[in-house]
Amino acid sequence: MKRSVTDYPLAGRRVFLRVDFNVPLEGGHVADDMRIRAALPTIEYLLGQGCSLVLASHLGRPNGQVVEELRLDPVATRLSELLGRPVHKVDNCVGDAVVATARALAPGEILLLENLRFHAAETADDPGFAAQLAALADVYVNDAFGAAHRAHASTEGIAHCLPGVAGLLMQRELEMLGTLLTDPARPFVVVLGGAKVSDKIGVIERMLTIADVILVGGAMCFPFFKAAGLEVGRSKLEAEALDAAARLRATAAAARCAFVLPEDIVVAAEATAGAAATVVPADAMPADEMGLDIGPATIAAFGARIAGAGTIFWNGPMGLFEIEQFAAGTRAVGEAIAASGAVTVAGGGDTVSAVRRFGLEGRLTHVSTGGGASMEFLEGKQLPGVAALLDA
Ligand code: 3PG
Repeated sequence: MKRSVTDYPLAGRRVFLRVDFNVPLEGGHVADDMRIRAALPTIEYLLGQGCSLVLASHLGRPNGQVVEELRLDPVATRLSELLGRPVHKVDNCVGDAVVATARALAPGEILLLENLRFHAAETADDPGFAAQLAALADVYVNDAFGAAHRAHASTEGIAHCLPGVAGLLMQRELEMLGTLLTDPARPFVVVLGGAKVSDKIGVIERMLTIADVILVGGAMCFPFFKAAGLEVGRSKLEAEALDAAARLRATAAAARCAFVLPEDIVVAAEATAGAAATVVPADAMPADEMGLDIGPATIAAFGARIAGAGTIFWNGPMGLFEIEQFAAGTRAVGEAIAASGAVTVAGGGDTVSAVRRFGLEGRLTHVSTGGGASMEFLEGKQLPGVAALLDA
């Protein structure tokens, strides 16, 4: 357990608030503000405590260079709209001018720093750079759950210079994801999809020891089919995942947890909107077509498991849901999860897109703002951005 903004004296303090405002931009505007809205409770709470706020985030991966398109000005604009108050913005995140601006903040004022990753010292977790960031405030609050798996100056190093506590979003993420690991209401059903198995090997291994059922859809199922000697045609196949798939299947066979692969697949010659799609049994995929969604029998089988669940964790779409004729699996599984009555947690960038596309956002218990961070947490790894905070 870590200390949080609610159990640390913050009244009237100047706070360095690390947020994850790594959001998609389009045409100089924020295209999806979910991560900004997710930080509002902490910002409002700190403002209510009479704090002045120095907000900091990374955006994209500029690799230590100033990249004009990755400046945080559109984020400042959107944040100001959401808060209904001004958000000052500076063009750097360290240096004398930034220190002077931060020190001049009155209680209730908000300053957003420039993209931290314009400095290579940020991702290098450079102690000198962390000290420069720390010089901007008296207390460090980390609400950037999405970046907590990175040991960077603003997520880790700074907590060695200032007392560091968790923000409300960070706290909620750790609680919700922590419950999955320690005390899930059973049966605990894990729904995994997406294209890559390699990113999820650790989570699958861990979940085989914790969950009651793992349902695997999306292109993730093809390495498992291939490893079992089945035809997968021209499906998206992560060749380097074949060994891992064979190993995981063997582990799953010995585990108490049920490991369920699709029984039918929607195939087409091309991954395009106009392509003719047919449903085939999973063990009879045509060599010249590709699998693009789970089929109706799989939707029904997955749906039955989901309907009986006490807890569900969902990461990864069931098919190419961006194209309507391959969206049925992801939509149906998402609907089933939302209707299940279980404690439901979804995480990962594509999953969150699907959740929003199918209007499920308000119907799940928790939609995590963390992609890689939520997966590493569920693997059981210690997140450096969490470890560095004060213990409760
Ligand atoms: C994310 O979008 O997952 C976080 O903001 C972390 O970004 P990164 O993978 O570039 O460190």
